[in-house]
Amino acid sequence: MTEPLSMNPGTATGLKPVAFDSWLEHFRNNPAHQKEIESLIEWNQPSSLDGPTRRAFVRSFQRFELGESGDGKRLLAKAALEGDATYLAALELLVHEEQKHSALFRRGLDRLEAPSLEAHWSDAVFTVLRRTLGLRTELGLFLIAESVAMGYFTALAERAPDPVLRGIGRRIATDEQDHIRFQIDRLHQGFRDTPRAGRMLIGLGWGVIAGGAAAVLAVDHGPALRACGLSPARYWRQAMGEFRRAARLVLANPGAEPLGPLAKDVR
Ligand SMILES: [Fe+2]
Ligand SMILES: [Fe+2]
Repeated sequence: MTEPLSMNPGTATGLKPVAFDSWLEHFRNNPAHQKEIESLIEWNQPSSLDGPTRRAFVRSFQRFELGESGDGKRLLAKAALEGDATYLAALELLVHEEQKHSALFRRGLDRLEAPSLEAHWSDAVFTVLRRTLGLRTELGLFLIAESVAMGYFTALAERAPDPVLRGIGRRIATDEQDHIRFQIDRLHQGFRDTPRAGRMLIGLGWGVIAGGAAAVLAVDHGPALRACGLSPARYWRQAMGEFRRAARLVLANPGAEPLGPLAKDVR
């Protein structure tokens, strides 16, 4: 993967830069929607999880709590250099949403009567990797992480054997659908000037990383996936399908219109 100097708008293709106003509006309005979803979660309902199932979710939630807790400082500093204040403000709000996801996993851990984790190797590796990269590559990794995790959040939302865990999954999956679209819109703009062969190579490189990231998630969160009725192998195939859809939207058609946020009434 080659690293560009910048992914500033105003490209040689003559295509208009993407306006991120609708995204900024989305992220500003989203807390009201999040509250609505959270208000449906019956936090105090007793849990009837057996010991092994409880431990499976503890292990899984501890990792996600850690993974979503970053302050995004370096990412935001890189994005600030791009000179698009609207995009930057939207990205700041996305980072804030990730911190809220971390807090939701912490709340899930409270329900499971388990502590937070101090550090985990997969999170440390991902953080070091991202810090060494430019904005476009970091956003690519962000997209990979979010698209491969989507299947987990959906499984949690739909089939976790506990109503509060399903509520947490639903709350996070709803945000993540838009996060993925937001990353796609920015990355799509960033790759519009890259020749087709270059975009194909990037897609292949991303595919290798996505395959590895989905495998780590499948192994690391295998017991929790199984508790949601999803075998790790089936999860992996679904995660790769989700990733490929996202990668195609970024790389396949430089002239495509931006996706924009999902309309609330179709959620
Ligand atoms: Fe998240
Ligand atoms: Fe996200």
